[in-house]
Amino acid sequence: LARGFASSAAAAAAIKHVTIVGGGLMGSGIAQVSAQHGNQVTLVDVSEDVLKKSRQNIETSLKRVAKKMFKDDTAKGEQLISETLSRIQTNVDLKSAVQKADLVLEAVVEKIEVKHELFSLIDNVAPESTIFASNTSSLLIGDIASVSTRKDRFAGLHFFNPVPVMKLLEVVRIPETSDDTYNKLIEWGAAIGKTTVTCKDTPGFIVNRLLIPYSSEAIRMLERGDATARDIDTAMKLGAGYPMGPIELADYTGLDTGHYIRQAWAKKFPGNPLFEPSKLVEKLVSEGKLGRKTGEGFYKY
Ligand code: 3HC
Repeated sequence: LARGFASSAAAAAAIKHVTIVGGGLMGSGIAQVSAQHGNQVTLVDVSEDVLKKSRQNIETSLKRVAKKMFKDDTAKGEQLISETLSRIQTNVDLKSAVQKADLVLEAVVEKIEVKHELFSLIDNVAPESTIFASNTSSLLIGDIASVSTRKDRFAGLHFFNPVPVMKLLEVVRIPETSDDTYNKLIEWGAAIGKTTVTCKDTPGFIVNRLLIPYSSEAIRMLERGDATARDIDTAMKLGAGYPMGPIELADYTGLDTGHYIRQAWAKKFPGNPLFEPSKLVEKLVSEGKLGRKTGEGFYKY
């Protein structure tokens, strides 16, 4: 069966209806990939305008996927696009959006209060069997789950940007996560075409725990004037085989995102020099230079 179409694995999986809360870059990407692999998806955000934009972004990304998968067969490509879009519903009302969910995955702003409010609101509304998960990159899953009465059905599901392209999914267990929940999430990860890895609930899980200090060191190198941004990036691409250098990756991910992660960790784990926020990034963020998405970060676009 062609990659990207609803597979028999998806049909057999325990998770078939996914409600994604947050229509930003990550939420849209997760909605797209889930729908592409046969899930019924409900995408939730606070306004119809945001959801309209999410849908447009999903369509643009799907066109790239379709072009890549079916170079010489535009009919098949169009079928993939229309079938995927037909599986995605949007909703501004969280409570009604979780009524049929096997999994509710949040990808909203990285503020613990917002996440607490969200999970408190749906705790008694979602079906008993529904699994709750967070795509957080800076907070601990246990802290987010503290408001929930279903900690055995709570976990982290951490995706990577761009979600339709990056093959990894980190599945994060808190001590209370049941084996049944964990197994269902691992199975779902495979059904949506991702390779899963498992990690305990630690800051940054696996990838960001290594990427953030690496990125910080590259930025400190730049701040000291040891090398130019271009040369740091060229060095890591050609000398270490990375698809992007650390400075361009910081711009690509969003300087605000990296900065928030460092700030959150510095606050929670004070004194760890690896988690120190950068003054240079702080300045760029305060000037609205957030990287690629705003047209300027370390580089101009
Ligand atoms: N949707 C669909 N397809 C996309 C896409 C998107 N949003 N973005 C890129 N693609 C596809 C392109 O269509 C292209 O397909 P092709 O090979 O058929 O032409 C393919 O991906 C490669 O894209 P490009 O040719 O535009 O550019 P690159 O070859 O430079 O690849 C990249 C782009 C995949 C982003 C690559 O540079 C890369 O892997 N960079 C590193 C990304 C990374 O490290 N991400 C993790 C960040 S950390 C994170 O997300 C965690 C969070 O918590 C902060």
